Amino acid sequence: MAKSKSALSWTMCVLRSFLTVTVLVAQVLSVNRENFKTCSQSGFCKRQRAVQPGQSPYVALLDSIQKTSTSIQLQLLNKHNNVRFLLQVFGLKHNTVRVKLNELEPLRARYEIPVGETLKSQPEAEQITVQETSRDRVTFSLGTSKVVILSDPFRMDFFAGGEPVVSINSQELLKFEHMRQKQGWLSRMGSGLYSWFSAPFRAEQQPDPPAEDKGEEEKKEGEEEEGKQVPPEKTDEEADMWEETFKSFTDSKPHGPTSVGIDISFPGFDFVYGIPEHADSLALKSTKNTEPYRLFNLDVFEYELYNPMALYGSVPLMLAHNKKNTVGIFWHNAAETWIDISSTVADKTFFSKVADMVKGSTELPRTDTHWFSESGVIDLFVLLGSRPKDVFYQYGVLTGTTELPPLFSIAYHQCRWNYNDEDDVKSVAENFDKHDIPFDVIWLDIEHTDGKRYFTWAGDKFPNPQEMVDNLVSRGRKLVTIVDPHLKKDDNYHVYSDLKARDYYVKNKDNGEYEGWCWPGSSAWPDFFNPAVQEWWAGKFAYTEYPGSSKDVFVWNDMNEPSVFNGPEITFQKDVKHHGDLENRDVHNLYGFLVHKATWDGLLKRSDGHLRPFLLTRAFFAGSQRYGAVWTGDNIGEWSHLKAANPMIMSLNIVGITFSGADVGGFFRNPDTELVTRWYQAGAFYPFFRAHAHLDTKRREPYLLPEENMKVIRDAVRTRYTLLSYMYTQFYKSMESGSPIFQPMWVEFPEETAVFGIDDQFMLGPALLVKPVTEQGASTTTVYFPGAGQLWYDLFTYDIHQGDQEKSVAGTLDKIPAYQRGGTIVPRKMRIRRSSTLMYDDPFTLVVCLDKQGEAQGELYADDYHTFQFKNGHYVYRGFTYKGNTLESKNLDPKGSYPTKEWLEKVIIAGVTKAPKTVVLRSAGVTKNLGFNLDSAKHVLTIRKPGVNIAQDFTISVN
Ligand code: GLC
Repeated sequence: MAKSKSALSWTMCVLRSFLTVTVLVAQVLSVNRENFKTCSQSGFCKRQRAVQPGQSPYVALLDSIQKTSTSIQLQLLNKHNNVRFLLQVFGLKHNTVRVKLNELEPLRARYEIPVGETLKSQPEAEQITVQETSRDRVTFSLGTSKVVILSDPFRMDFFAGGEPVVSINSQELLKFEHMRQKQGWLSRMGSGLYSWFSAPFRAEQQPDPPAEDKGEEEKKEGEEEEGKQVPPEKTDEEADMWEETFKSFTDSKPHGPTSVGIDISFPGFDFVYGIPEHADSLALKSTKNTEPYRLFNLDVFEYELYNPMALYGSVPLMLAHNKKNTVGIFWHNAAETWIDISSTVADKTFFSKVADMVKGSTELPRTDTHWFSESGVIDLFVLLGSRPKDVFYQYGVLTGTTELPPLFSIAYHQCRWNYNDEDDVKSVAENFDKHDIPFDVIWLDIEHTDGKRYFTWAGDKFPNPQEMVDNLVSRGRKLVTIVDPHLKKDDNYHVYSDLKARDYYVKNKDNGEYEGWCWPGSSAWPDFFNPAVQEWWAGKFAYTEYPGSSKDVFVWNDMNEPSVFNGPEITFQKDVKHHGDLENRDVHNLYGFLVHKATWDGLLKRSDGHLRPFLLTRAFFAGSQRYGAVWTGDNIGEWSHLKAANPMIMSLNIVGITFSGADVGGFFRNPDTELVTRWYQAGAFYPFFRAHAHLDTKRREPYLLPEENMKVIRDAVRTRYTLLSYMYTQFYKSMESGSPIFQPMWVEFPEETAVFGIDDQFMLGPALLVKPVTEQGASTTTVYFPGAGQLWYDLFTYDIHQGDQEKSVAGTLDKIPAYQRGGTIVPRKMRIRRSSTLMYDDPFTLVVCLDKQGEAQGELYADDYHTFQFKNGHYVYRGFTYKGNTLESKNLDPKGSYPTKEWLEKVIIAGVTKAPKTVVLRSAGVTKNLGFNLDSAKHVLTIRKPGVNIAQDFTISVN
C-alpha cells in the first residue's frame, strides 16, 4: 500500500513537472486570446449587455422616503417581479454624492468592500437640502450641486453649477439580479409559495407600488416571476445562471445569478478617461462594435495593444471632461466588471423629464456608459468636480493618495530576470560606476530564491546577501527582492508549513486547500481576506524573519492578480473561497491590493513605522496608490509598446496611481539599440523609472550598448537625476492633493479642447512638457505647444517655442523633446553622483523660465528624504517667485522646518534680453553683490553662487 502510494506520488511528481514545463513554455511562446473570456462567454456580461434601453421596470417609491440632514433613502421596486431594493443617497464632503443600491431583503448578504480597504476611512457626511418632494421627484442640493431623483422609471440627474453633468439610469439599463433559490421547479414553487404566503406580511411593512402598476406583472424573459406555480422553462438566458463553463473549467456558481448593472450618462461630454488597466489610448473609445472594457485582474501573456481586454489591475474610476466641467464616477465594486461606452447627442427627449432644470441649448454631446459587475452591490461615488484638480482631490479624499516615496525610489532602478549571483550584482554596479551612469537600486527576480521559495536565498548563488547589500549601500544604493504570493507546497518550506498549520490558505469550493500552479510548481495562496493572515504575512518581513533582509532591502510583489498557470483565465476559479464566507467572484480585484497592503504593513512594521517603505506591485485596485508603485507588467520590446506606455501611465496617474512606470526597454524580446535608447529617454520622465528584461533576452545594461547609445542613455539618466528634487516636490504635492504627476495635457490646460485627445505627450508636474520620440529612425517629431501667449523653453538649450501651435521639432537620437513652461521655476541639482542618496546635501540650481510678463513661480519641498519625520514637521516647503526683476524665496508652510544643508549654487534665468548692471542678494540682513553672465544670443542670465541655504528667505534683485 505504502509502496503503491509512493509510486503514485512519483508519477504525479513527474506529471506535474511536465505540466509546469508545458505551462511555462506556453507562457513563453505565444499570446493566446482564447485563454480569456469575451463578453459572450461570460453569462452575466451577456445578460447585462442584452438589456435594451427604455424598458425599465424599476420605480422609486417616493412615499417610502426617509431623510436625514445628510442622506435620503427610499425603496425601489422591480415591477416585473415585485422585488424591492433600498436606495441610499449620501451627501459627502467635497462636492461628492454616494449612491448605494442593494436588495432590501437579500437571501444572502451581498458583499460590500469594508471601510479601510478601498476607502481609506468612512467618508465624511455633508449637509444636503431637500428642495422639492412631489409625486414624481425628489430634488436636493449639496453646495452648488443639485440632484434630482425621478420616480417612474427610476432615474437620477446631477447638476454642477446649473449644468447637467451626470445622469443615472436615463437609458433604463438598471438590472439588479436579486438573490434567489436555485431553480428546479419544486424549489421555484417553494419560493413562489413563500412569497405568496409572506406577501401580506411584507406588504404591511412596505409602501405599496404606485397604483397604476398594481397587478401588472408582465413577465420579462429570464426574470423571476414569483407567485406562479408553474415549472419554468430553462431559457437561454438562464443557462449560465447556476453553472457556467469556460474551456475545461466549470464554475459552480452556488449562489446563482447576482450581477448588478446600470447606465451612467455624461451630458455635455465628448471625452471620458480612466478605468485602467487597459493597453489603450488615454481617451476611452466607443465599444459599440467591440468588446466592453473589462476590469478583472489577470496575467495576460504578451498583451495586445489598443483593445479593452482586462490586464493586471483595475481601478473603476472614470473621469469625464469638457471645457467647463470635470466629473468622476467611482464604481466601488471589486467583482469582475465590464463597461460599455458610446457617444451620442443629448437632445430634448433625453432631458424631457428634467427639462425645467436645463439652461440654454438642450443639444449637447453626450457620452453614455453602461457598467456591470458580477456580484456585490451598486455603490457609486459621483465626484462633481468641477475642475480636474477638484476631482483628483475628491477621489484622493476617498481612497487616499500615494505616500511620499523615499527619494531613492524615484531615481533609476536596474532590474532584469535575473541577476545571476553576487558577482553579477557587483559587476553591474561597477560597470555603471565605470561609465558614470547613476543608479540607485538593483533588483533580484525569482531566481535569487531557493527554488522559488520566497523569503529564502539560493545558497549557491547568494551565500552572503548581507555582504552584497553592504557593498551596495556603501555607494548609496539599495536592493529589491521579489516576493510573490504563491507559496510552494513543500512541508519543508517554513512559510508554507506555517500557512498550512494555521489554516491560512485560500480554499477550494469544497473547503480544502486550494492548489494551483505558478513559478514554484504546485502552490497554495495565503488568504489575505483574513485580517490575521495579513498580519501574519506582514510579520514575515521582520528583519529577524527574513534572513538577508535589512533596512536597505525593499520588495516587489508580482503575480498577485493572482496568476495561476492552470486556472481559468490564468487565475483563481471564481468559486474559490475566502475568509468571511466570500467567493473569489465577489472580491477578485481586491486580492492583489491586499497582498500589496499586507506587504506594505510589513515594511512599515519592520522599522517601527520610522522608515518609508518602497514596494512595487503588478496587480492593483482603487486605493493601491497608498502602498507605493505600480508598473504596467510584461510589455514587449517593440516601438508600439514604447508608444503605448504614455497613455497607460497617464491613465494610472489620473486614477491616483501616480507612482507608475513601464519596463524600460520592454520586457519580452530583444529591442534594438535605438529602441532601448529611446525608451530610456522616455523612461527618464516616468514617475517610476526601471529597466527590466525577460530571462531569455540578451543582456542590455546601458554600458553594453555601443558608445553612442550608451552616452545618450547616460545623459537621459543624468537628466532624471538633475530633476529629482522637482519630481520629489511633485510627489509631495500629489500626496497632499491627489493630483497626477505624469499628467495628460488637459489637466494643465483644461479649457484647450485641442489637447483633450492628445496622449503622445504629457506634462510632468505643472512645469515640464515631454514628447517622447516613439518612431523608429525619427530625426524630428511634432509637438503640440498649448496656451495662447504661452512660452515654452527647450529644457536643454532654452530655445523658445510659442504656445498655441503644433510644431515640428528636432528629434535626433541624442535629443529629448522636453520643455519648461514659461512662467515656472524648477529647482534642479546639477552635480550628478552615483546615486541619489549621495546627493542629499548637494546644492541647487534654480531654473527660472520667464513668461511674457517677465514673471515666474515655482516650489521646492525638501526633507531627510527617507524617514517619516516629515509627518512631525521636519521639512521645508519653499515658494519662489520672480516678479519686477526680483527673485524671492518664501516659506510656504510655517509648520515645517528642517535643518537642511542644501544651498543655492546658481540661478539661471531664461528669457532675459537686457544685461543687468548689478545682481544683489539680500538674506538675513546681509547684502551681497553676485557675479553673473548673460548669454545674449540665448537670452539666458546665469547668476553665480548666491550661497544661501535653501531653507532661508532671500531676494535676488536683477537691475
Ligand atoms: C512576471 C513579471 C516579470 C518577472 C517575471 C518573473 O512575468 O511580470 O516582471 O520578471 O514574472 O518573476
